[in-house]
Amino acid sequence: MSKIRVAVAGAAGRMGQTVCEAVEGADDMELVARADPALDTTLAQALAERPDVLVDFTVPDTATANAREAVGAGVHVVIGTTGFDPAELADLAGAQANIFIAPNFAIGAVLMTQFATAAARHMARAEIIELHHHTKVDAPSGTAARTASLMRDAAPEHGDVPIHSVRLPGLVAHQEVILGDVGQTLTIRHDSTDRTSFMPGVLLAVRRVPTLSQSPLVGLEHLL
Ligand SMILES: NC(=O)c1ccc[n+]([C@@H]2O[C@H](COP(=O)([O-])OP(=O)(O)OC[C@H]3O[C@@H](n4cnc5c(N)ncnc54)[C@H](O)[C@@H]3O)[C@@H](O)[C@H]2O)c1
Repeated sequence: MSKIRVAVAGAAGRMGQTVCEAVEGADDMELVARADPALDTTLAQALAERPDVLVDFTVPDTATANAREAVGAGVHVVIGTTGFDPAELADLAGAQANIFIAPNFAIGAVLMTQFATAAARHMARAEIIELHHHTKVDAPSGTAARTASLMRDAAPEHGDVPIHSVRLPGLVAHQEVILGDVGQTLTIRHDSTDRTSFMPGVLLAVRRVPTLSQSPLVGLEHLL
């Protein structure tokens, strides 16, 4: 079987480097290009290598522009970049290539969001504390924003779920959802202690993005 040809945008970044290693370690994939201004390689140069899939871990404005450029070239896109509204790409539904977006590719974080959403219906109030390394550019995190939105949809009568953002050296990506009711609290916590936690989810998305039944599609839970 031919290998999936993968290009990575943001390839010099923390996540991008880890994705490049994961793709190189996958038997069914071939890393064909690394796009990043820090590597003097543009996205256009990367797309000229004719990848099947572009994986994007860059910055918010760049991610949406990159997705448009890739889809225009017929290349499927997996976006891990956070800090933009996925609705900005809604007009690309029905385009010649698919887009998959996940604010969090770690299975434990997806489960945390699902457990918190289920719990939201049963407890009176909830707040989210998300904690990340001090160089993260966006706040609140994409994971926290999505958790709060799903909890609100599940229990609109309980109102918005406030989010508190902590940025400190030494942290990677952590989130705590605390629910409170009369005489009790419930805490659901997830910790990514290493960026490799995101890689099985990223590789799964690369394999599945060409055959999505809906695009753009948001959330790893749809692929599990
Ligand atoms: N979805 C997830 O599971 C998940 C997990 C961790 C981080 N993230 C997100 O991934 C993104 C990247 O995080 P990071 O820690 O690797 O950041 P980083 O700053 O280490 O890396 C970003 C890279 O993008 C590059 N870049 C900027 N403009 C570019 C362009 N036009 N084309 C190509 N590359 C470009 C930068 O030079 C840099 O190397 C952030 O939005 C972060 O929130 C998502």
